[in-house]
Amino acid sequence: MRAEISIPLAVKIGPFFSSVGDMAQRLVAAGADGLVLFNRFMQPDIDLEHLSIDPTLTLSTSTELSLPLRWIGILRDRIRASLAATTGVHTCEDALKAVLVGADVVMMASALLHEGPEHVGVVLREMEAWMAEHGYESVEQMKGSMSLANVPNPVAFARANYAKLVTSFVSPYDWRMAEPPGTIRA
Ligand SMILES: Cc1cc2nc3c(=O)[nH]c(=O)nc-3n(C[C@H](O)[C@H](O)[C@H](O)COP(=O)(O)O)c2cc1C
Repeated sequence: MRAEISIPLAVKIGPFFSSVGDMAQRLVAAGADGLVLFNRFMQPDIDLEHLSIDPTLTLSTSTELSLPLRWIGILRDRIRASLAATTGVHTCEDALKAVLVGADVVMMASALLHEGPEHVGVVLREMEAWMAEHGYESVEQMKGSMSLANVPNPVAFARANYAKLVTSFVSPYDWRMAEPPGTIRA
């Protein structure tokens, strides 16, 4: 593809590689000018009444942003390519987070299908207000300031942090109220 076209070439990938980082580096080495992280695949549901596959299109939510956030933060300082965030960008806060970890571009699909195209203006105005409030003069100044290389606690981006998170996790369920295993109800 790189040999065939002269315009900038962005490659949109899914998150399902055993090593996203290695794949990203290979794509850039092969001539990609930009990476779009991540594609979101249709995930069919099962209709239990009709025992059929329900292909309904479900739109994303902001909770899905964490995967692109993490990888953009990791890749920002390691590859020479533009990075675009897609999947889970709905609000001003989502867009700001994506820029802070290092996104050059922030994309919204589900949010616009949900709220209409005027939502872009709302998010833009809210971003400008946040930037003014927090002393940022340009998007460039914000971009990547919270990438892996720029945060005081880079391990927060890493999978190695998983064990610590799991051991410090507190369940919202009140386990003191739970009946001990083997309890026989009258
Ligand atoms: C109705 C619909 C059509 C889409 N068509 C395409 C497409 O043609 N090419 C593509 O790369 N992504 C397509 N996408 C994926 C979006 O560009 C986007 O990556 C994905 O929806 C995740 O972002 P979101 O959380 O903002 O929705 C489509 C998404 C939707 C909901």
